[in-house]
Amino acid sequence: MDLQDARVLVTGATGGLGRPVSTRLAAAGARLALTGRDEGRLEEVAGSLGGDRPLTVAADLTLPDQPQAVVDAAVEHLGGLDAVVHLAGASGFAAVGTEDDDALDELLLVDYLAPVRLLRAALPALREAKGTALVVTAVLAEGPVAGMAAYGAAKAALSSYVGAAAKELRRSGVRVVDARPPHTETGLADRPLTGTAPKLPQGKDPEEVAARLVKALVDDEREVPSSAF
Ligand SMILES: NC(=O)c1ccc[n+]([C@@H]2O[C@H](COP(=O)([O-])OP(=O)(O)OC[C@H]3O[C@@H](n4cnc5c(N)ncnc54)[C@H](OP(=O)(O)O)[C@@H]3O)[C@@H](O)[C@H]2O)c1
Repeated sequence: MDLQDARVLVTGATGGLGRPVSTRLAAAGARLALTGRDEGRLEEVAGSLGGDRPLTVAADLTLPDQPQAVVDAAVEHLGGLDAVVHLAGASGFAAVGTEDDDALDELLLVDYLAPVRLLRAALPALREAKGTALVVTAVLAEGPVAGMAAYGAAKAALSSYVGAAAKELRRSGVRVVDARPPHTETGLADRPLTGTAPKLPQGKDPEEVAARLVKALVDDEREVPSSAF
């Protein structure tokens, strides 16, 4: 994929991975639409990138109509979509049987339903452009981890959906990529929707993980397992 002038929507653009991914995409000449919930942080990221100022759309993707609204705004501004890079997400930690209802709902909403709705909303534009959806799930989708049952299950569900979508959409020329990074030092584990993270080993460098994600876009890779990082 050629990133020069590529029209790319990045979700989670204010995050520890979203920001360096957006920076690299902008540096490669992509035209960007960036989304996250916090307008101020979005503006700050947009202002820090070189080239054309990206569109920013503040939205909570867990609200059912917001994935479509974000895609509509991006398509209108950019004139279509060559890629969607989905990085919005949140963590959660709880012993099995102790999860509260709100946390269970929120984890499923943010880590499973929101990206499924986003992909659904983006599909017409991606079909038209024969574009790419790069969906960041997590290493957790490759095997369960104690203390992260609900978080891991939401990511595994998303990985399963994305894998099926990749197979279904291949013939239409739409590439759907499941990227499953290992633990990365973005601070994600320190702002969980519920509970407290266990002591984790030193994670990957966010810059290196971001570079690897962008490489997967450029090299037309179809899957980025945790071992690829
Ligand atoms: N860091 C890791 O160890 C790791 C490992 C594997 C996979 N991942 C996955 O990689 C993705 C990015 O993680 P990260 O480490 O960059 O986390 P992060 O720094 O916490 O960033 C998360 C991003 O998601 C956005 N977000 C959260 N809830 C949202 C919502 N309801 N609606 C819209 N946007 C929302 C946040 O923006 P606002 O707060 O402004 O809304 C932020 O931009 C996540 O899906 C994560 O699960 C991370």
